[in-house]
Amino acid sequence: MYDQIGTSYSLGRQPDPRWQSVITTALGDAQRIVNIGAGGGSYELSDRTVVAIEPSAVMVEQRPLGSAPVVRANAESLPIVGGWADVAMALLSVHHWSDWRAGLMEMRRVAKRRVVLTYDPEFHEQFWLIRDYMPEVAAFERSRVPPVDDIALVLGGNISIVPLAVPWDCLDGVLPAHWRRPTAYLDARVRACCSGLAQADPRVVERGVQALSQDLRSGRWQRRNRGILAAESFDAGFRIVISTED
Ligand SMILES: C[S@@+](CC[C@H](N)C(=O)[O-])C[C@H]1O[C@@H](n2cnc3c(N)ncnc32)[C@H](O)[C@@H]1O
Repeated sequence: MYDQIGTSYSLGRQPDPRWQSVITTALGDAQRIVNIGAGGGSYELSDRTVVAIEPSAVMVEQRPLGSAPVVRANAESLPIVGGWADVAMALLSVHHWSDWRAGLMEMRRVAKRRVVLTYDPEFHEQFWLIRDYMPEVAAFERSRVPPVDDIALVLGGNISIVPLAVPWDCLDGVLPAHWRRPTAYLDARVRACCSGLAQADPRVVERGVQALSQDLRSGRWQRRNRGILAAESFDAGFRIVISTED
C-alpha cells in the first residue's frame, strides 16, 4: 500500500527532535535494534547497530544514503534469528499490518525489549479536523488501529505506556500534526503524507477541506477553536508501549 501512498512521505514526515528524545529514552542502552516498518528511517539511531525491516520499495528508496541496512520483509515473518536484538521497535506501523498479533509475537521472539509507537483512535476522533469536518475518518481509524491495551497484552512482560504529545510545530506530519496550523490541511501535499487522509474516501476529504477553507475565511474555525490557540502541545492519543522481560 505504501508503494501507492508513500511517494512523498519523507517530505512531510521528518523526525521531530522532541519525539526523537522520548523515543531514544524508550530504546534505552540497546546496541542491536530491529526497526520494523522502518519507512524512511525516522528515529533510527546512528550510533547503534540497526537493521530495518520495510516491505515497500517506495519507502526504502526514501532512506537517506548511509542509513541502516534494510531488508524487504513483513513484521508478521521477521527474517531475524530469535533473541538477536536488544530492542525491536515499530513506530506508527502496527495499524498497517495484515496480522498485528502475529507481528507483535515476532517482536517478542526477536527481542526482550519491545517499543511500539501507536495511537488511541478515540483521541484522534476528538481532533477538530476529524470531529468537525471528516467524521467518517473516525470509523476508518477505529477499524484498523488495535486498542493500546490489546497491544500491551500481546507484547506481554512488564509494560509501561508513555504518552507522546504533539508539539504545535511538530515536524513529523502525522494526521494531527497541524492541529494549531489549520491552513496546512488545505494543502494536498500535507494530506498525502498521512495514511488516515490518503486512504480515506477522497469525496469525504474534499468536502471537509472545502468546509474548513470556508470556516477559516469566515472566522468560524478561529471562534470554535479559540481554546487551543495558545497551547504548546496537544494529546492526540499517541502512546509508546514499552514491554520488557526480566
Ligand atoms: C506510517 S509509516 C511509518 C514509517 C516509520 N516507522 C516512521 O515512523 O516514519 C508505516 C510503515 O509501515 C510499513 N508497513 C506496512 N505494512 C507492514 C508490514 N506488514 N510489516 C512491516 N511494515 C509494514 C509501511 O510500508 C510504512 O513504511
